[in-house]
Amino acid sequence: MEPIALAVIGGTGVYKLAQLDDVSSHSVETRYGTPSGPIRVGTLLGQRVAFLARHGEGHSLPPHKINYRANLAALQQIGATRVLALNTVGGITEHFGPRVLACPDQLIDYTWGRISTLSEEPGSDVLHVDFGHPYTPILRSKVLAAAKVTGVRLQDGGCYGATQGPRLETNAEIARMRRDGCDLVGMTGMPEAGLARELGLDYACLAIVANWAAGCGDGDEITMAEVLANVDAASAGLPELIGELARG
Ligand code: HPA
Repeated sequence: MEPIALAVIGGTGVYKLAQLDDVSSHSVETRYGTPSGPIRVGTLLGQRVAFLARHGEGHSLPPHKINYRANLAALQQIGATRVLALNTVGGITEHFGPRVLACPDQLIDYTWGRISTLSEEPGSDVLHVDFGHPYTPILRSKVLAAAKVTGVRLQDGGCYGATQGPRLETNAEIARMRRDGCDLVGMTGMPEAGLARELGLDYACLAIVANWAAGCGDGDEITMAEVLANVDAASAGLPELIGELARG
């Protein structure tokens, strides 16, 4: 198969990639099972790009039911070596308000009960991968460079806290996460990043801030309508940024 310059995993509110042309669909089976949906492969600003909707194209999978291993293995099977994860998140600290795009450099995993390793099955190799820098530094720096070239404002760095969901957090949980050093909160950052490292994929996160996390904003209820409207507004520059990243 022709090489894929970049694979993109879309999160809540990003179920397809705008400006992806000549799209072919691939239903891929992996040794870990079936991914969240078909992989759409096409041309974005001249580059071959693959796209997969993490929750399924109709958002049918909650975060704890996503087969993260199958998703990443399927992207690797069709020839991807680099993955840009789009993650819809809540903002906790000052510089991470709604509609901000961020490229975090750290994460803390608060999830539980998810299959989080390729070493799960008896007889598989036991892997202890280095994870000090959970996002591939070279790919991160390319994301930042692509944002600069395309004029997309991007917050450099920050700590992503991955929670179990699907419910949103309590004010006290977010206050604890703030004390822990988290800037962002989302439900799908792990085990995806750890599995990417185990698979040897380059992996970076582009977080789309959809709302102030619980207790960080004006105290109003967080609604799905607010989340989706902010994701939509913040995503306008993504096709250009992704096309530029795929080029580099
Ligand atoms: N918490 C967890 N995940 C999220 C949030 C949030 O506030 N907003 C969007 N995804």
